[in-house]
Amino acid sequence: MGIDTAKSVGNYDLLEKVAEGGMGAIYRGRHRESGSIVAIKIMPPHMAQNPVLLKRFEQEFRAASRLDHPNIVRALDYSDNGNMPYLVMEFVEGESLGQKLERQGRMSESEAIRIIAQVAQGLHRAHKQNLIHRDVKPDNILVTPDGIAKLADLGLVKETETDLNLTKTGRGLGTPHFMAPEQFRNAKNADIRCDIYSLGATLYQMVTGELPFRSTGPLDAWMKKIQNDLTPPRQLVPDLSERVEWAIRRAMSADPEKRPTSCREFVEDLTGHSTRRLPTVDSSTPQQDLWYLVYKDELGTSHTVKGTVSAVRRSLKDGLLGDASNVRAARTKAGPFEALRGHAEFRDLVVEAAPLSVPKAPSPRPASSPSDDTVATYPRVKQSTPAKPGLPVVSFQSKTGEHDLAPSTAMELMKWGFLIALFLLTAIIAFFFF
Ligand SMILES: Nc1ncnc2c1ncn2[C@@H]1O[C@H](COP(=O)(O)OP(=O)(O)O)[C@@H](O)[C@H]1O
Ligand SMILES: [Mg+2]
Repeated sequence: MGIDTAKSVGNYDLLEKVAEGGMGAIYRGRHRESGSIVAIKIMPPHMAQNPVLLKRFEQEFRAASRLDHPNIVRALDYSDNGNMPYLVMEFVEGESLGQKLERQGRMSESEAIRIIAQVAQGLHRAHKQNLIHRDVKPDNILVTPDGIAKLADLGLVKETETDLNLTKTGRGLGTPHFMAPEQFRNAKNADIRCDIYSLGATLYQMVTGELPFRSTGPLDAWMKKIQNDLTPPRQLVPDLSERVEWAIRRAMSADPEKRPTSCREFVEDLTGHSTRRLPTVDSSTPQQDLWYLVYKDELGTSHTVKGTVSAVRRSLKDGLLGDASNVRAARTKAGPFEALRGHAEFRDLVVEAAPLSVPKAPSPRPASSPSDDTVATYPRVKQSTPAKPGLPVVSFQSKTGEHDLAPSTAMELMKWGFLIALFLLTAIIAFFFF
């Protein structure tokens, strides 16, 4: 019996076909005894005759059944008796992320982060268990109507321990748009940073609604990738946050060394929140949103200051603490003090995303000037990094006393008031004299 006329496989009744994939068709099915609804991937007989494809199909089951995680599609059963091998999985209600994007176009930044962070958690578990997915892309992510995301299709998985590799046959190397450039050259050497690249590329499409590299073919895509010839996401969506653009571009660096080292770090980059537990040094439990920083002024004198995340970020952007790569931060006065790149809250200020080969569009955000009060409060240091537009300073305190800085919103209001008055004055003069 052919795959299209089959009414059942093993103990499962086939209810309807839900998709036609590269490795076979996917059905919604029902277990005859328990009545439970499942998804069944069935390999057609002509493919099952190919021993490499059959081995890969079996490996897909083996890898998926090793992974028990809410964000990875669970494998339930497998059979390769008979001419149509099948793989039984939990049935995920909803649609693939690829279908969702096709249907509704790009999604909001917050929805995209909610989904990609779940996928990253599932992928992180796979990595911890020495599995590299190698085909992370919107079509291989399933999203339920209530927003749960599950990573599917472990058909290209690589086990780093056994190094069993079945890349060369069948459906080829995956999808060029979402694949890391080094994976084009040699998929056998794919490591977790290839998956992180694909996560970044997937997020790119989620927030922009565009494929990361619009190319004419795999070679063209590869050339663009190694040259970082990527249209910056904010050029397509100007109100996307700088942080998300930076996180995407860092994950999609042509050089794997420049990418986050784990899925966890990728999520930290996106949210700006550390996922590590806070150190519990002596009795001083860290206060919510308060950071201690150590920096050196021009004369080499060390200073310790404290402030909220937004205040610290503003001061770093304004260059008040000198070269940010020399500043160390901790959640408690007693430390341990660590370089800023170790803290998700400040990493984007010291770690550069890969430079783009295309000119960047001008920033849509108006630049705000640093307040003189802010500058006067601290021993000035040589500014080795130019001040960038930043977040408003709420308060920033030094070891020797508290300093409440003029709120930058007040400064903004004064600036705008002055500009409006100037405009009115010019208009009046023009009216009377010309
Ligand atoms: N467990 C599942 N529950 C519901 N739909 C699924 C499930 N697995 C796959 N699908 C559907 O089938 C499509 C192809 O599945 P996938 O595992 O990626 O197969 P292929 O190896 O053919 O690419 C998915 O995009 C999704 O629409
Ligand atoms: Mg697939």
